[in-house]
Amino acid sequence: MLTIKTIFIALIAANLGFCCPQSTYSIEDGLEIARINNARRATRNIPEPKKIAITNVRVFDGEKLLPLGTVFIDGDKIVAHAEGAEVVDGNGGTLLPGLIDAHTHPASVDDLEALATNGVTSTMVMMCRPPAVCESLLNHTGLTDVRFCGLGATSPNSSLAMQFSVSENQTISSPSQAPQFVAEQLAIGATFIKIAEDVLTSPTRLDQPTLNALVDAAHAKNVPVACHAADYAAFDAALASHADQIQHAPQDFPLDSPLIARFIAQKTVSVPTLLIFQEYIARGAAPASAYGVANTSVTRLYHAGVPILAGTDSTPVNAVPFGVGLHNELENLVGAGMSTVDVLRSATVLAAQHNLLWDRGVIAPGMRADVVLISGDPIANISATRNIQKVWITGMEYKGVTTSS
Ligand SMILES: *[C@@H]1O[C@H](CO)[C@@H](O)[C@H](O)[C@H]1NC(C)=O
Ligand SMILES: *[C@@H]1O[C@H](CO)[C@@H](O)[C@H](O)[C@H]1NC(C)=O
Ligand SMILES: *[C@@H]1O[C@H](CO)[C@@H](O)[C@H](O)[C@H]1NC(C)=O
Ligand SMILES: *[C@@H]1O[C@H](CO)[C@@H](O)[C@H](O)[C@H]1NC(C)=O
Ligand SMILES: *[C@@H]1O[C@H](CO)[C@@H](O)[C@H](O)[C@H]1NC(C)=O
Repeated sequence: MLTIKTIFIALIAANLGFCCPQSTYSIEDGLEIARINNARRATRNIPEPKKIAITNVRVFDGEKLLPLGTVFIDGDKIVAHAEGAEVVDGNGGTLLPGLIDAHTHPASVDDLEALATNGVTSTMVMMCRPPAVCESLLNHTGLTDVRFCGLGATSPNSSLAMQFSVSENQTISSPSQAPQFVAEQLAIGATFIKIAEDVLTSPTRLDQPTLNALVDAAHAKNVPVACHAADYAAFDAALASHADQIQHAPQDFPLDSPLIARFIAQKTVSVPTLLIFQEYIARGAAPASAYGVANTSVTRLYHAGVPILAGTDSTPVNAVPFGVGLHNELENLVGAGMSTVDVLRSATVLAAQHNLLWDRGVIAPGMRADVVLISGDPIANISATRNIQKVWITGMEYKGVTTSS
């Protein structure tokens, strides 16, 4: 029987001969992956809910670092106090809200486990094919929680449609198709809409009226829109459409004051995924200059006060690892000039609020008991987030964590 790993290995091998590695797998492979994921959900051992007292920890509550103290968990929630709780000594380490990766493409339960191992307890899945793969990642109790968009909207024969093998009947080419596209994604469980506005060099791109109609159709259903954009023109179009988030950063020119002023005026959020530029450059799919250009955009967005969320663009077939990648991205954001506190916020409270995940992202009574215990002080050095000691997801300790320190 095919395992998920052999499917991916076969895909990577099959893609070596092409200029541009395909970022996904066939529909048949996807259905097989979904079947395996669903079977794994059914056989999972779910631990009993407990009362836990994590003592002797400094708490980054989502905004600031608090002095040494104790955090209580009762079942799936953080509480003010829990009588008779089992004590876990935090050893003077730091407790963080469960980390949120605002841009991933997990396909298998293995990917969720890699996220959980590295303290990433929630993630926004920015496209899955077929949608059965997204669905099969839901409800794995005690593992990373996913929110997904279903298919991303792109135009027929666009570079992205070709890269992701999106069949023509799943693309969109006129404003009149937008309400149905949005309704179809919501019907399969999407909680946000993803639009992939292609670059100027693509054979086709979504035109402005179609882009606007997609955003309007999503907003009419009260769901936010994340728009992929990778050059200056695509950012211009994405801003004109009033998308809520723009994914990636322009590769050609850094964002300038007029565009950044529109981010501020429209309260648009940036998910720059600096890591994907490193991956593209490493495999020769982008010029070496692309990173500096993207980095400059992040510096400018940050100084202008645009909310920035940490996202990786991990997929099963690129070299951006699930979980570890988020820690790389946190370092990249510090490298772009963000303070460590703001970088931690980008992967916790800001990621939660801008993705409407109101039950998480901060450590406070009543919130979901998604917390990560690390050794060291990530305010002094962001790399400390890598020193994961323990991870709890809805109050259940994730047992796959292997600590190095
Ligand atoms: C996930 O859980 C929700 C809420 O219990 C349920 O409605 C949905 O059918 C479940 N989906 C899957 C794929 O297990
Ligand atoms: C897409 O490309 C195919 C094959 O080249 C062509 O037949 C089709 O007309 C194109 N569709 C659009 C909308 O450009
Ligand atoms: C879309 O096209 C694919 C392949 O061309 C086909 O298998 C599928 O049934 C079509 N879907 C719809 C909804 O027409
Ligand atoms: C990224 O931007 C920061 C702040 O402007 C700068 O100090 C750093 O050298 C830049 N990094 C790269 C790789 O361009
Ligand atoms: C942060 O910690 C890492 C890993 O220990 C180390 O390599 C790096 O030099 C430290 N950075 C600073 C700014 O101290």
